[in-house]
Amino acid sequence: MVNFDEQFNRKGTNSVKWDQICHTYQEEELLPLWVADMDFKAPIGIIQAYQEMIEHGIFGYTTTPDSLYEAIIEWEKQKHHLSIAKDEIFFFSGVLAGLATAIQAFTEPNDAVLIHDPVYPPFAGILNENKRKIVRSRLLEKDGHFVMDYADMEEKIKQNHIKLAILCNPHNPGGRVWTKEELNQFGELCRKYQVLVLSDEIHQDLVFLPNQMTSFLNAGYKFEDFTIQFTSMTKTFNLAGIKNSVAFVKNPKLHKQLERKQTENFQQEINTFGLVGMEAAYRTGEEWLNELLVYLQKNIDDTFTFFDKNLPKAKIMKPEGTYLLWIDFSDYGLSDEQLENQLVHEGKVVLNAGISYGPGGKQHMRLNVACANATLLEGLKRIATALN
Ligand SMILES: Cc1ncc(COP(=O)(O)O)c(C=O)c1O
Repeated sequence: MVNFDEQFNRKGTNSVKWDQICHTYQEEELLPLWVADMDFKAPIGIIQAYQEMIEHGIFGYTTTPDSLYEAIIEWEKQKHHLSIAKDEIFFFSGVLAGLATAIQAFTEPNDAVLIHDPVYPPFAGILNENKRKIVRSRLLEKDGHFVMDYADMEEKIKQNHIKLAILCNPHNPGGRVWTKEELNQFGELCRKYQVLVLSDEIHQDLVFLPNQMTSFLNAGYKFEDFTIQFTSMTKTFNLAGIKNSVAFVKNPKLHKQLERKQTENFQQEINTFGLVGMEAAYRTGEEWLNELLVYLQKNIDDTFTFFDKNLPKAKIMKPEGTYLLWIDFSDYGLSDEQLENQLVHEGKVVLNAGISYGPGGKQHMRLNVACANATLLEGLKRIATALN
């Protein structure tokens, strides 16, 4: 059994989660429940693979071994019923690097790109950096979770001549694990207007039963014609710092175009630590992952219990996947700035400001529960102190 209750001191390790916030907010004793990075040690099989590598002590240029391709293919087949061939796999130094390359490969400056609102902020960040026009389609709240507004998307696709959309599947920050039917409807819309879909599936393995993950590539007839699907093991196994990810591209035309842009940017060579960590994760991490999901579910349940009792005016969206909770604090009557300041400077606790996820994130916060239960309970107390 993995001891997820163990608390580690991550301060002084240049951790974005623990160290960077002290500079950002000029506060020392902050408890971070923000960025999607877990406070757990990686599975032992990954640590051992790195130990072997370090023992050997030579870190020269490395080719991508066939055994890594096999590990990826097997994981996708077993876990996601996805059939991927070796020559359909691209490696990138992170999902965001892959998305940026695809945006450059398939659109031009000033082209409009569709994203949801709210959604993971770097989607808009990359589009801005690349001078693409951002068109947001607001997610609607129905029965306590997000649903897509197909009529709104269709209108916006038509009006803005959209040729590219970025999908977050499962959805960050709402924790939605889109169903096959929802993805199919979205995909059919994209097919109708010839919209290429970049499906970011980095949270694919963090799904709670009875919800079922559907890969966008599996969601409809020949969706592979207009899909590039991105994923990584870095979110699943808490390896974000090794910056390694994959993209699956089945359409030969898209494959060629993406490859061209990747080569142009000389992004095709991947960090050796990424290759080793990825293979070890997929080969040895499954049991750890199963235990992790049970632990995360308990942390989520404890958070709901705590909020019911101590912060009844807040509304939490029940996540079907991810370890991120999307919380509506609007009934507290605070502006976004006041909400953030009160949490940080009075509660000494850091969450992600909802407004950074788009206008739909007004007066919301995103809470990361992937830490030891005792750390989480301390953080929740701090949130209550800040707001009550
Ligand atoms: C939806 C989503 N995509 C991408 C990333 C970042 O991926 P990477 O570190 O591989 O660039 C994250 C990190 O939290 C994420 O939540």
